[in-house]
Amino acid sequence: MGKKAREIVEISVPEIISDLNRAYADEWLSLYLFWYSSRTTINSNLKLIFEKIYLRDLKHAELLSSRIKTLGGSIIYNPSEMIRIGNCKYPESINSKNEKEMIESLLSFKRCLIEVFNRLIKKTHGKDFITYGIVQEIIKEEIEDEEILESIM
Ligand SMILES: [Fe+2]
Repeated sequence: MGKKAREIVEISVPEIISDLNRAYADEWLSLYLFWYSSRTTINSNLKLIFEKIYLRDLKHAELLSSRIKTLGGSIIYNPSEMIRIGNCKYPESINSKNEKEMIESLLSFKRCLIEVFNRLIKKTHGKDFITYGIVQEIIKEEIEDEEILESIM
């Protein structure tokens, strides 16, 4: 990122990198939760829905990692770090045998992600328009994912 590009970011860059890394951790954990659920459910319709969602989370993780890199930060190396710094509590277990319970666990993780990106949208609004645009794109899809999960409950 060039001199001017850095200057127009009106919030602390290390702070935004740290926020983005925490959201990046949440996205990877979400990706894994939905991947795991898609591989353990016996319902082929749910499998397709979960696959669509984890592919989106992969895209979100990529968008966040690219912004972290542009801001001069480094992405997390160790997966155990993701659980430690992530905003959203990783469920103790996913009960694939009980579809309602499984979807509830996944929904609560998605809802936490919506809160994370909502906070980031407010924080970056008018201060870091590139991060703002990325977060706006991500939150739209998280909201759609919540709707999809609610509709199959
Ligand atoms: Fe996501």
